[in-house]
Amino acid sequence: PFGPIRVTVTGAAGNIGYAALFRIAAGAMLGRERSVDLRLLEVPQAVDAAEGTAMELADGAFPLLRNITVTDSLETAFDGCDVALLIGAMPRKQGMHRSDLLAANAEIFTAQGRAIGEHADENVRVLVVGNPANTNAAIARAAAPDIRGDNFHAMMRLDHNRAIGQLSSRTGVSADKIARVTVWGNHSNTQVPDVDHAFIEGVPARERIQDDAWLDGEFASTVANRGAEIIKARGASSAASAANAAIDHVRNWVLGTPADDWVTIARPSHGEYGVPEGLVFGMPARSRDGDWHVVSDLERSERVLRLTEATIADLEGERDAVRALGITI
Ligand code: NAI
Repeated sequence: PFGPIRVTVTGAAGNIGYAALFRIAAGAMLGRERSVDLRLLEVPQAVDAAEGTAMELADGAFPLLRNITVTDSLETAFDGCDVALLIGAMPRKQGMHRSDLLAANAEIFTAQGRAIGEHADENVRVLVVGNPANTNAAIARAAAPDIRGDNFHAMMRLDHNRAIGQLSSRTGVSADKIARVTVWGNHSNTQVPDVDHAFIEGVPARERIQDDAWLDGEFASTVANRGAEIIKARGASSAASAANAAIDHVRNWVLGTPADDWVTIARPSHGEYGVPEGLVFGMPARSRDGDWHVVSDLERSERVLRLTEATIADLEGERDAVRALGITI
């Protein structure tokens, strides 16, 4: 009864794009009931490379893959789009000032947000992966005033999954038996991994682990600095795990989260937990019937409250730097 789901992937020729597209085509993101119409957006100089990926996608003979379009046109890429993964961004180059980086990305995400507002389906779901992801999501949202603000998310799921991965390694318990982890705030090293409400095999995480010094020290800093550690080890940034997290995020958005669990999403704050309205902030949330509900009644420790102030200040700093460019977010 339904046509294919139109999925736009920006930065499609990049590392995360390459790791994500084949799994999307295989049904890992949207389930195996619905077919997929893929739109790959790239900058002009990378369109050829994206064409190569499109050839490989065709060679995958995926039963669910109905169409692949490669383009450098925003209008073509976002026309009728149902799900947008905004992965492509301006990377930080040697010697580049933070303000120049923010300005370059502000331009990209303003243009993409505007194109989404003009051409995408009115219920489009947007997940921003390209860094600085939270602020880029706020910028895209501001450029698409006719689309519900709650539909613009930044990816904090990699941070969330990293936290679960660390708890799993420490305890030997499989990831699916670790629930209710939260990573508050920004996708930067000011993020606040929080296990105060987490359960491991049904036992409160702190009780199970019996090592608060590790949880508040090494665990939290390993999760927050994992990206840099991976670059050091691999000589390249985390791509497959980022693609995996994007797929997890959208799958939960479309198909829901388990009733007794939650995941971390970042969407514009409505003022929950005292977070200034409009900051795209990592929070615990559950998805049901295609919509997210922030879990809004958690008690936070003094420690989490103090660290949360710092990640709010970090995001306010990014927001103010963008505002200084004359962009209203
Ligand atoms: P990459 O450099 O391999 O690929 C990026 C691709 O984006 C390139 O092919 C480039 O041509 C394209 N691109 C740049 N500007 C574009 C535009 N305006 N329109 C369309 N395409 C554009 O980078 P990779 O590894 O795929 O990472 C992509 C982004 O994801 C980076 O900003 C990275 O920092 C971020 N990231 C975010 C994570 C998160 O947890 N939120 C985790 C890991 C990476």
